[in-house]
Amino acid sequence: MAHCNGSFTILAFFFSLAFLTAIKSETMFARELSARDQFRLKPEKMTHLRFYLHDTVTGQHPTAMPVAQAATTNTSATLFGIVTVMDDPLTVSPDLNSTLVGRAQAICASSSSRSGMSLTMTMNLVFTEGAYNGSTLSVLGQNPILKNPRELTIVGGTGIFRFARGYVQLRTHTFNIKTRNAIVKYDAYASHY
Ligand SMILES: *[C@@H]1O[C@H](CO)[C@@H](O)[C@H](O)[C@H]1NC(C)=O
Ligand SMILES: *[C@@H]1O[C@H](CO)[C@@H](O)[C@H](O)[C@H]1NC(C)=O
Ligand SMILES: *[C@@H]1O[C@H](CO)[C@@H](O)[C@H](O)[C@H]1NC(C)=O
Repeated sequence: MAHCNGSFTILAFFFSLAFLTAIKSETMFARELSARDQFRLKPEKMTHLRFYLHDTVTGQHPTAMPVAQAATTNTSATLFGIVTVMDDPLTVSPDLNSTLVGRAQAICASSSSRSGMSLTMTMNLVFTEGAYNGSTLSVLGQNPILKNPRELTIVGGTGIFRFARGYVQLRTHTFNIKTRNAIVKYDAYASHY
C-alpha cells in the first residue's frame, strides 16, 4: 500500500509539472536556448570582405546627398552640422563598372566642430552578390575622413552575418577635390557563425 501511494504521488508530481510547463510556455516572453543544441550555431568563423565604395556627391546621379544642415554649417571649416544620406554602390575593384557586390546605405552627420573632418556614421552594408545576397552588416562609428586607415565597428548583421561583430578599415582610394566624389576601399573583418 505504501508503495502504491508513493507511485501515485510521483505520477501526480509529473502531471502537475507538465501542466505547469504548459501554462508557463503560454505566458512567458523570454526563454534561454542552448546556442549549440537548439539554435544549431556552427563554430564561429571570421570573414574578410574587401570592396570599394563609390561616394558620388555631384554629377547627374549623386548617391549621397545632404538632407539637413545647421545655420552655421556654411561658415564651418569642418562642415559641422551637415547631415548626409547615402546609398553608395560597392564594387569588387575601384572601377565603378566592376562587379557590384552591394550598397552602403547610411546616415552620416558631420560631427567635428573644431578640427579635422569627422563623420558619425550609421550604416548598413547591404550585400547582393552570390551567397551573401540578402545578408547585411550593421556598422557604427566615427569616420575621420582624412585619416588612413580609419576604423568603424561592426555591431551586428543579418542572414549569413547573424551575431556578427568586428571592424571595418577604410582607406581613401581617390578623392576628387573639384567634384568632391570619392572612392573608398573597405576591408571588413566580421566574426560570425
Ligand atoms: C549654404 O550654402 C549653400 C550653397 O552656397 C546654400 O544653398 C545654402 O542655402 C546655405 N545655407 C545656409 C543655411 O545659409
Ligand atoms: C562604365 O561604363 C559606361 C557605359 O558602359 C561608360 O560610359 C563609363 O565611362 C564607364 N565608367 C568607367 C569608370 O569606366
Ligand atoms: C539577390 O536576391 C534577390 C531576391 O532573392 C534576387 O531578385 C536578385 O536577382 C539576387 N541578386 C543577385 C545578384 O543574385
